[in-house]
Amino acid sequence: MRTKSVEESILDTDDPERGLKRTLSALDLTVFGVGVVIGTGIFVLTGQVARTTAGPSVAISFAAAGAVCALAALCYAEFASTVPVAGSAYTFAYASLGELPAWIIGWDLVLELALGCAVVAVGWSGYVRSLLDSIGWHLPQWLSGTSEETGFGFDLLACLLVLGLTAILVVGMKLSARVTSTVVAIKVGVVLLVIVAGAFFVTADNYDPFIPPAQGTQDSGSGWAAPLVQLVSGYEPTTFGVMGIFTAAAVVFFAFIGFDVVATAAEETRNPQRDMPRGILGSLVICTVLYVAVSIVVTGMRKYTKLTVDAPLADAFKAVDQPFWAGLISFGAAVGLTTVCMILLLGQSRVFFAMSRDGLLPRFFSRVHPRFGTPYRSTVLLGAVVAVVAGFVSLSELAELVNIGTLFAFVVVALGVVLLRRNRPDLPRAFRAPLVPLLPSASVLASLWLMLNLPAETWARFGAWMALGGVLYAVYGRRRSRLRRGEEPRPHHVP
Ligand code: ALA
Repeated sequence: MRTKSVEESILDTDDPERGLKRTLSALDLTVFGVGVVIGTGIFVLTGQVARTTAGPSVAISFAAAGAVCALAALCYAEFASTVPVAGSAYTFAYASLGELPAWIIGWDLVLELALGCAVVAVGWSGYVRSLLDSIGWHLPQWLSGTSEETGFGFDLLACLLVLGLTAILVVGMKLSARVTSTVVAIKVGVVLLVIVAGAFFVTADNYDPFIPPAQGTQDSGSGWAAPLVQLVSGYEPTTFGVMGIFTAAAVVFFAFIGFDVVATAAEETRNPQRDMPRGILGSLVICTVLYVAVSIVVTGMRKYTKLTVDAPLADAFKAVDQPFWAGLISFGAAVGLTTVCMILLLGQSRVFFAMSRDGLLPRFFSRVHPRFGTPYRSTVLLGAVVAVVAGFVSLSELAELVNIGTLFAFVVVALGVVLLRRNRPDLPRAFRAPLVPLLPSASVLASLWLMLNLPAETWARFGAWMALGGVLYAVYGRRRSRLRRGEEPRPHHVP
């Protein structure tokens, strides 16, 4: 339960061999946030969830997931503005809850970001293949990802994307931030296009019923695929209806993942005290409004039962005879998913970097590049692993695993806000979350509620990953921790 003091965390960033360059502004962070937040969630999952779980009421699911994130965002913003160093919830947990909780959260974040990145790379690859198909260029089946019939295949494009992005990140933030802003503009443009152009094709009949009546699931198997809350409450698992809105919210939550990643860039922010909360909250508000609007328009353009699973936004336009817009949307989605993938990759290498700097993972990984000033060793290692996972992974179950990991991190962060207020009331907080401890408590309950709406099998997988982390900590991190070994860098000061 030893904690690393906030001053120590900040002091670490002054070590020239292990500190990152401060180059980002509030606008960069917002672009960064929107860059990662809008992605596979809205472009791919919307159609799937509307069709199988919620119908047009998926718009309510987006609003519900957005509300859960807003509560967490206020907690994140307070933490990020108090502890402005690399590592996100991991660092915050180290400063407030103790080393073991910090390890748990760091381990959990690596899962969230690495698998999230792999999921998005696979989604990207699907869109690119569909564009290639339309110009008559087809990749062989075995290089196009796992095939449903044979259960085998390698996703060449997803793997190449991750490797390419890893190279960009090694070269430096500056380049990647510039690329990001251009791509984000294209992506937001496409989302606005869907909303504005799509509005002309909305038919009121498609909203009837807005909340389809609950019905039993066809899956009569072991029940592992049913949401945990339905299993433990002893009800026959159902989809649609009011419960369907929450089941859907737990899935489309994926669409919001990333605003917390903005907090991982705190150490590279020029004025973290002021800019972090602006960046985090700004990107979250923009995305929630866009998501609700897109889902209302898309379910209005096409009956939810007829929405497609792979490219629902583009297909809705094809269905109303607008192939040009459909092509443009596919193109924008493919371009947009690139930044999502890149920022998730960036986030995970930073968490890994921070854990290594603290000695919880081998210190080898926390040397920054002498010329580029980037944590190139952790970036290359994780980039290679994610490239392989992206090559072999299949999508939907992994998205749920990513969600449970992220929601768990939200719970820890919200608890951390309350503890830090109590233990260190003296620390300057550029941003103070309102209504503490009421608001963090609401955040904990809301995050737990979404977690309970995820399938039982997702809980089991998450438990297995965390158990593996526990073993690693016991045999390595606990002994090698710099804090345990009493390595004090230099005298304390808060810049
Ligand atoms: N929020 C990101 C997405 O929707 C991860 O793809």
